[in-house]
Amino acid sequence: MTILITGGSGFIGSNYILHTLATSDEPIVNVDLLTYAGNIENLASVQDDPRYTFVRCDISDAAKMGQILDEFRPRAVLNFAAESHVDRSILGPEAFVHTNVVGTFRLLQSTLSYWRGLLAEDQTGFRFLHISTDEVYGTLEHNDPAFSEQTPYAPNSPYSASKASSDHLVRAYHHTYGLPTLTTNCSNNYGPRQFPEKLIPLVLHRALCGEPLPVYGDGQQIRDWLYVEDHCRAINVVLAKGIVGQVYNVGGLNEQTNLSVVKLLCCLLDEARLRADGKSYAEQITFVGDRPGHDRRYAIDARKIERELGWRPQETFETGLAKTVRWYLENPKWVERVTSGAYREWTDRQYGEQPTGAI
Ligand code: NAD
Ligand code: DAU
Repeated sequence: MTILITGGSGFIGSNYILHTLATSDEPIVNVDLLTYAGNIENLASVQDDPRYTFVRCDISDAAKMGQILDEFRPRAVLNFAAESHVDRSILGPEAFVHTNVVGTFRLLQSTLSYWRGLLAEDQTGFRFLHISTDEVYGTLEHNDPAFSEQTPYAPNSPYSASKASSDHLVRAYHHTYGLPTLTTNCSNNYGPRQFPEKLIPLVLHRALCGEPLPVYGDGQQIRDWLYVEDHCRAINVVLAKGIVGQVYNVGGLNEQTNLSVVKLLCCLLDEARLRADGKSYAEQITFVGDRPGHDRRYAIDARKIERELGWRPQETFETGLAKTVRWYLENPKWVERVTSGAYREWTDRQYGEQPTGAI
């Protein structure tokens, strides 16, 4: 029994691997291209664990993915690999089409051909779990009901459009070819090892460096924040008990405006490490131009996964954010190596140029 993870060196994937190796005995193969978002150091603590194997590969390299599947014979493929940052998708959408659309399509093809070669009983137990986002549902007004699994897709950014496309392909591979798929659509994650381009780690890093804390537009956009380990638990519950072909929304029951998140982070930093001049980090908050096409509000109706599979978040925003702030304060080297680019040195030394086909 082995599970194959794609994109396991990124934020959620690495938290998932660490969580799952700590709570089960099953071997894990991590297939990751190691783009800027993939950091081999995220998994340094398990690199010598005999249950853990790393392979560098682009999910769109169908020939190599076919070989990897034949070699490791997983009972499940969990697809975390993606370009994940909305602002980058606005500046350079092509990489998002390459990985999120073409990559997912080719991974589905490779997996389908591997799955067809399995014995009947192994085919029945096999799962392809696709990790997706609430952003595929578009944007909500203040009083709209939260996104349910029935909400029509209305993606607004190149990122969410590419994820929506990948979700549709996953659905089609189940409906047309019978591939046993599962899809999760999750809200904003936060926690350790998140690349400091995303709001929470960006604010923590810039606050400690004495830099302005950029709040887009009026800061009244709303996101539903979920601690990353709760997302990892949800994925394992869906993998174990989810009904094939179904979609499960995952959320934190925790809607916050961006401005209140930034102010809360400033308060937590004030308590943990007061600024040298004794003033609050909130003094660094700066309103900047808005993100083009910025979605106003996301909210998740997570009643299906709770009712049918018994999952609920374990962390509150207070406990999760406290753990997150502590992790960033206790791991300044990780932050320094990521922000300076030093984390790429090992990857470049070990692997040289990116494999053919990579962006
Ligand atoms: P991330 O950007 O931190 O990590 C992505 C990982 O995928 C990196 O390790 C990268 O090297 C790898 N990768 C990129 N292109 C690849 C390719 N072509 N082949 C193989 N590997 C490749 O992303 P994340 O925040 O950990 O998100 C993981 C997944 O969860 C994504 O699918 C994302 O859409 C989804 N998601 C994220 C959030 C969130 O708040 N971060 C919320 C809901 C869903
Ligand atoms: O909802 C799930 C999605 O959450 C995931 O699918 C994405 O992969 C993930 O990146 C995240 O997308 P967001 O765009 O919501 O996350 P981000 O951290 O980039 O921004 C959160 C909010 O904060 C958003 O409304 C934009 C705003 N923001 C962001 C940054 C980086 C700022 O105001 N200032 C900033 O500097």
